[in-house]
Amino acid sequence: MSMPEETAARPRGLRISKIKEHIGAEVTGIDLTRPVDEQTRRQLYDALVDHVALVIRDQDFTAAQFQAAGELFGELMEDQNRRYLAPGVPLVSTLSNHHKDSQGNQAKVAKTATWHTDHTNQELPPKFTALYPVALPDSGGGTALCNMRAAYEALPDGLRQRIDGMQTANTLISSARTDNANPDILDDQRDSTGEPMIQPLVRTHPERGSKAIWFHMGKTERILGMEPAETQDFLAELLEVAMRPEFTYVHEYRLGDMLMVDNRSAMHKAGFDYDHSQHRMLYRLLVRGDRPY
Ligand SMILES: [Fe+2]
Repeated sequence: MSMPEETAARPRGLRISKIKEHIGAEVTGIDLTRPVDEQTRRQLYDALVDHVALVIRDQDFTAAQFQAAGELFGELMEDQNRRYLAPGVPLVSTLSNHHKDSQGNQAKVAKTATWHTDHTNQELPPKFTALYPVALPDSGGGTALCNMRAAYEALPDGLRQRIDGMQTANTLISSARTDNANPDILDDQRDSTGEPMIQPLVRTHPERGSKAIWFHMGKTERILGMEPAETQDFLAELLEVAMRPEFTYVHEYRLGDMLMVDNRSAMHKAGFDYDHSQHRMLYRLLVRGDRPY
């Protein structure tokens, strides 16, 4: 005898509330391992795009269930680093401070401690990134997020006009950022034969029409027309001017949080302010995006 299929009903306790004026919303009262009706799915999707990031509380996922929850937001894509996948779940990768590189050394993670948006060296970077903690240190290890739409809009006119139309050349790892890099990633970079991926520095949101400052500090080889070192200085200064405390939010994870980020309007940064003898591991998945413009 087969069980009747569980039908999707509107979750009665669903609540979506702002975390900060300019960034983030918290979602409670929904279990994404249960079927989700279309109206609710759309509501979550729109809240993510409107608020730049969503924290969906109190989930209890296996890697496969996390993958299925990610699929509510679109088609998933592969992580370009195929080394640290969740076993048997190829669209979920693991981010861990205890990963070993192929030399057997604790994999260096410092390269991710810069502001970035994911996979800018690809033609179609992910529109959303989702993270779900599996192991957490006692404190710290949060993910910092910034609303780069608000940051762009608040720029002085002259600077805004100056960066409009700038383009970045992106590689797996910028030659200005090879210190501290994972040797496996450096090998991958040496083996890569493709041309750098040219991306806009100011990206237009395909669903909202808003513009946002958009780059990966560790993957930008250069701004076209600038040298690599000059580029790094320029981008660091741009962030200095553009990022204001009111546009940023550091998400300190609780077990059960599914953090979703709209990469078209946000940049993010991992926090390293924790005891590295303790284990921090997150599942990550990526939702396919389209060609930035
Ligand atoms: Fe990232």
